[in-house]
Amino acid sequence: MQPDEKIMARLKPGCICKGIKLIRLLEAIDQGADNFEAVAKITGIGEGDCGGKRCRAKVEELLADRKPV
Ligand code: FES
Repeated sequence: MQPDEKIMARLKPGCICKGIKLIRLLEAIDQGADNFEAVAKITGIGEGDCGGKRCRAKVEELLADRKPV
C-alpha cells in the first residue's frame, strides 16, 4: 500500500456504527483473515447496528481486491 493510500485508509470509515476505520479491515486481511467472519473476529465489524448488512459487501470487496488472480 502506498503511503497516501495508507493515510486515506486511516481516515475512511470501515464501519460507521462502531467507528472502525478502513485501515483496521486492511490490516486484518493482511494478518490472514480471508472471509467476512474472520475480519469481523479481529476488528469487531458486523457487530454494530447494521449487523453486517452495510459492511459485509465492503469487506468482501476488499477481500476480492487482495486475493491473487
Ligand atoms: S457498518 Fe458497522 S457493523 Fe456494519
